[in-house]
Order: sequence, then structure tokens, then C-alpha cells
Amino acid sequence: MPANYQSGTVADATSDALFITLNVKPGYEHQLSQALKQTQKIIVTSQQKFSGQSLHAVIAIGSEYWDRLSFSEGNSSRPALLTSFPQLHGAANMPSTPADLLLHLRSNRRDITFQLARELLAELSDTVEIVEEVSCFRYLDARDLTGFVDGTENPQGDHKKEVALVGEEDAFFAQGSYIHLQRYVHDLNHWERLSLKEQEDTYGRTKLDNIEYPSAEKSLTAHTKRASLKDSEGNSLEILRHSMPYGSVSEAGLLFASYCRTPENFTLMLKSMVEGDAHGHTDHLMQFTSAVTGQSFFAPSLDWFSKLK
Ligand code: HEM
Repeated sequence: MPANYQSGTVADATSDALFITLNVKPGYEHQLSQALKQTQKIIVTSQQKFSGQSLHAVIAIGSEYWDRLSFSEGNSSRPALLTSFPQLHGAANMPSTPADLLLHLRSNRRDITFQLARELLAELSDTVEIVEEVSCFRYLDARDLTGFVDGTENPQGDHKKEVALVGEEDAFFAQGSYIHLQRYVHDLNHWERLSLKEQEDTYGRTKLDNIEYPSAEKSLTAHTKRASLKDSEGNSLEILRHSMPYGSVSEAGLLFASYCRTPENFTLMLKSMVEGDAHGHTDHLMQFTSAVTGQSFFAPSLDWFSKLK
């Protein structure tokens, strides 16, 4: 199958990322359609200009906004499984804060990511208003701000595509991807009062050398225990995480981003973390961080953009 997905969907981790959420001004749907079509040309030109810097972009449409898209061609105007963000209340609150569009831009140079953002927003500017922009950075050797390496168990190589890209089960939206985004604010003072052993037990991994605990030693409340799920046939449920740290010394945390060929895997993981198992084991990592946003998007294929009118 020829590559028809947006390059940022499965690109390797970079040192810099910018997540910008936008709302479309009412009545600007037609102008938006033309501007969105142009965005892909802007991205390609920028990638050619800065080749070698891993400049990648994903532009995605919010779950609530799909129904306002009058310009989408094809029989099915909506990705088959696209639903609102799963708002959950349990051991932690997971709010739903819908936005119409997402720009997920990244590279190994902050100036380049920034410049692409400026160019894309210049194209979209008449039609949108910014909801939030979150500038992310690689922390040490790809660690979360809690000090643990993040992304180790992510799918690798070509397997990333199998996990993240829609296949022929929804042919019109093939090579698109379901995205879930959450901005978490960490309580680092609280976290740093834990002993090393308590921190490691919370993840079910060692901190410095990033080694997974043996299964028998993992608590049922460990983050990696609650997030590791299997289907009825024993296959692992997988997502591709492009999460990165963000923030200042006043407020900091993780911009969590999940890409998947189905939104169900993320939803089941989040439920397992927040609602827990039948015996009330919930994810203790959530005692040290709070989700302040939650959005569900779909990133369509490059073909979808080229067909816009
Ligand atoms: C694993 C951090 C939220 C799903 C991990 C790991 C870290 C981490 C450090 C271990 C290394 C790795 O495999 O990447 C965090 C932080 C979060 C967060 C700081 C929020 C503040 C979430 C959410 C989900 C999730 C919301 C999904 C709903 C996973 C999965 C794994 C993982 C699937 C791999 C588990 C395994 O197979 O061992 N996370 N995570 N995480 N996380 Fe999270």
C-alpha cells in the first residue's frame, strides 16, 4: 500500500514538539476546507527546506467537529469509531474538553517547529481561534518529569503502522489515526517526597536503569500493570504514544498523546487506570498528576486532504 498517512503519525520521537488546539469560527467551514488543503503543501515545503531535522506534522479533526464538515467526500463522512473523549470519574477525574482541530508539530529544532507553526497558522488564521498551545521538550534521556523513561514499551519499526493506522476495515479512512490527547499537571513536590522504592513500585519499573519489574513483583496498582491489557484471545492491546513533557517551574507535566487504529484501546486502558479492576485496584500514578484537558481527534490520510474543495 503506498504511504498515504501524515508523516507525524508514526515518526520516531524528536527533541521538540508543539501541540496546538484550535476552534473553527462559526460560518467559516468553506474557507477552512481550502486552508486545510494548503496546509499539506506548506508542510512538505518546510520538510524539504529543513530535511534532516525530523520535521513532522499531523493535522487532526476533533470528534465533535466532524459533523460540521460539509466538505468531506465519500459515503461515510465520519470515521467509523470516532466518539467523544471518554470522560471518566473514579480514582481520578478525566475531563472531556473538546476542540475542533489539532496541530501536532515536531522536529529536533525548536526554531523549526515554531516556524512551521507560524506558517500553518498564517494559512488558517482567518478561520480559527487558538484554544491552547503547549510547547514540549525532551527531558534528559526521554524521561517524564517524574524521572522515569517514557515510551520504552511503545511499538517499534513497521509495527508502529500496524498499531496506529486504520486499515481496510474502514476503507475511506484507511491510513488515518485515532488520537487521544490529555494535558496532565504533575504534583512534583508530592512525588519527590516518595522514596525511590515507592516511586518504582508506582510504575512497576526501576528508575535509573529503566527495567521492568518481574510480573510477580508488580503491584496491581502499578501504572504499567493497569495500562497493560490483553484481548479475549490473549493479544496485547497496543497504542502508539507520542507523549512529551512540557511546562515551567510554576506548572509542568506531560502532554499525553495516543495514536491508534481504534479508539477502543485507549478507552479501555484509561478505564483500567481510573475505574480499576473488580477489586478496586486503580492506578496510583494518578495520585501525583491531574488531567486538565481531554480531547478525541481523527487524523485523516493525505488523500483526504487532497480531495478537499
Ligand atoms: C507506560 C508514564 C499516562 C498508557 C508508561 C511508562 C511511563 C509512563 C514512564 C513506562 C515506560 C514505557 O513503557 O513507556 C506516564 C505518565 C502518564 C501516563 C507520566 C500521565 C501523566 C498514560 C495513559 C495511558 C498510558 C493516560 C493510556 C490510557 C501506557 C502504556 C504503557 C505505559 C500502554 C506501557 C505499559 C507496558 O506495556 O509496560 N507510562 N503514562 N499512560 N503507559 Fe503511561
